[in-house]
Amino acid sequence: MDLAQLTGDLEDLRSEAMAQAAAAPDSAALEALEIELLGKRGRLTAVLRGIGALPAEDRPRVGAVANTVREGIEAAIRHRGKSLRGGELDARLARERVDVTTPGRPIRRGSLHPSLEAMADIAAIFAQFGFVVVESPEIEDDRTNFQMLNIPPDHPARDLWDTLYVDLPGHLLRTHTSPGQIRVMQSMAPPIRVLLPGRCFRYEAVDASHGFEFFQVEGLMVDEGTTLADLKGLLDQFAHAMFGAGKRTRFRPGYYPFTEPSVAFDVECLVCGGPGCAACGRTGWLTILGAGMVHPVVLQYGGLDPERYQGFAFGMGPERISMLKHGITDLRLFMENDLRFLGQFR
Ligand code: PHE
Repeated sequence: MDLAQLTGDLEDLRSEAMAQAAAAPDSAALEALEIELLGKRGRLTAVLRGIGALPAEDRPRVGAVANTVREGIEAAIRHRGKSLRGGELDARLARERVDVTTPGRPIRRGSLHPSLEAMADIAAIFAQFGFVVVESPEIEDDRTNFQMLNIPPDHPARDLWDTLYVDLPGHLLRTHTSPGQIRVMQSMAPPIRVLLPGRCFRYEAVDASHGFEFFQVEGLMVDEGTTLADLKGLLDQFAHAMFGAGKRTRFRPGYYPFTEPSVAFDVECLVCGGPGCAACGRTGWLTILGAGMVHPVVLQYGGLDPERYQGFAFGMGPERISMLKHGITDLRLFMENDLRFLGQFR
């Protein structure tokens, strides 16, 4: 091995390497080529192994040539790498192209069920008068649903509520939210101002105005010196907030075993405003709720002294309120879960 031969081998390696680098099909192949040429066990190292056989004075010359060869190969690899990466990026950008002008997919938002919407509105109005929302069980015992509300087992007033019983003896699905009155009085001290919204159940044949499952919102206020006039004033405020300022209202005598006196609370017909139409049965009035002064017997069952405390209670159907507000004519819509109906509310 002499100097000329070795530098010749180096030059051959350089031109071959340059051609290979320029022809590398992709970055991975180029990387493999770089290792093959310039790596620790690469071809350049292999050629330079011959350096040991040269006379000492020739060695620096070979070293100088080897450096330029290495630099040349490195430059060729860098150059090819750059153009490969550019092409690959272009290809990837083309592949993963995003059309930023495409309209977004609409997000379908849920909405409140109309029964819940009405209950939320009712609760918001009574909250302004200090009423807090309390919950009471859907499965009740006969005593709380009836007896403690002054409805004894064989009392004919039970006919007002056709009851669904459950397997547990003495228990039933509450027919109204009024048993919540008892539970509240037994657990809270006056002054009491609560709203009891919840699901109720009755053994009913379903039609446009009757369901076997519906909601009620019960209200109860108990304090010293509470009067029927307080009830009327509060319900007027409620009717004006719910149906519009200035709407006329009235009390009619009513009957419930757990209130005395009992009343029905009417608001002027929202459709005709008084003269009478089909919506109000030609009366000019719409009945909104039942109410009355809490019966002394009920206060006693609640653990309160009727000589000291008086209270009023009222109960309304949020579906009925919703039907009146939105002009809905069939109660069945509330339980059918037809999205075309449900999607129309807040
Ligand atoms: N619980 C009665 C009903 O179901 C409504 C009501 C509640 C009446 C409170 C008076 C007082 O019809």
